[in-house]
Amino acid sequence: MIIDRREIERMLAAEGEAMQELFARAAAVRDETVGPVLYLRGLIEYSNICRKNCLYCGIRRENRSVARYRLTPDEVIAAARYAGERRFGSVVLQGGEITTEDHIACIESLVVRIKSLFPASPLGVTLSFGEQTEATYRRWFRAGAHRYLLRIESSSERLYRSIHPDDGLHRYEERLRALRALRRVGYQVGTGVMIGLPGQTLADLADDIVFMRDMDIDMCGMGPYVEAEGTPLVERCGPPPERDYRLAMALKMIAVLRLAMPDINIAAATALSPLSPDGRLDAVRCGANVVMPNLTPRRGKEAYRLYDDKSSAIDSRLLCERIGWGEWGDSLRFGKKNK
Ligand code: 5AD
Ligand code: SF4
Repeated sequence: MIIDRREIERMLAAEGEAMQELFARAAAVRDETVGPVLYLRGLIEYSNICRKNCLYCGIRRENRSVARYRLTPDEVIAAARYAGERRFGSVVLQGGEITTEDHIACIESLVVRIKSLFPASPLGVTLSFGEQTEATYRRWFRAGAHRYLLRIESSSERLYRSIHPDDGLHRYEERLRALRALRRVGYQVGTGVMIGLPGQTLADLADDIVFMRDMDIDMCGMGPYVEAEGTPLVERCGPPPERDYRLAMALKMIAVLRLAMPDINIAAATALSPLSPDGRLDAVRCGANVVMPNLTPRRGKEAYRLYDDKSSAIDSRLLCERIGWGEWGDSLRFGKKNK
């Protein structure tokens, strides 16, 4: 069944009982399609050094008030070993966008080391290091990474332009190019958007769902926009909608995407937590099937502040769900496409 765009918009407008019904329906579809299992990915925030200057992001290049760090290879390996020992099944290695040969080679060798940590059942490795050339994506893929996250942030080119500097380094077209390159190389491709941006309409969000379906993505991570100290977004674009609206809309987006693309992986975004202590748990209750417990060593975690967050790393209540211990938890949709 293909849900049309009008129906998507109608579902996104649901409130009260209709919204609760939407959530329950999405959770049931998740259970029937990808199963009632929650997959874990140990999140390792490698570095907050970034060449970009996204208006919303706390680690943007021009934010002088952040102390910059990069984990040592041994710190990364220790975190990955912990993930394997705890039987998380996978890790996500994430960091700012850097395109130097030195950085590319470092990530490549880290992937090789992580893959060789548990030879009998190697960890799954997801990368998230922004826009890179197809050749770089291919090197990292050959090293053993098999999933990549690159959010489109907003599928509306108008909105994308409004939340990024107009300096030639933040081009919507370039983001699309990178997403297509990832697909060609053979990754499971994850994208996503921020929800509750200043100037974002319900129609924009419905378009985001349609965009993800048209792109035939394998995974999605999307969450609310959260204010970030030292960033110019609000000053330039105006105030975002209220926090309760952003939270509810983020959950509705997850539910609607689950109905529109039943067989993909959808993450309960970390950005839900600063808006509500129950945020990530609620996401699982309305269709998400992936959570990313943060395994970054403390010296990094405090400096990797994309947005203002005082919440804790992981809600232990999440671990009461049925967990896919030791499994990669690959995208079912990707498996079907590549059979
Ligand atoms: N609020 C919510 N999400 C943010 N990100 C960056 N800054 C913020 C913010 N202030 C998200 C972007 C990026 C991902 C790594 O973090 O969507 O792709
Ligand atoms: Fe860098 Fe990503 Fe933050 Fe943009 S959102 S400044 S690319 S870390």
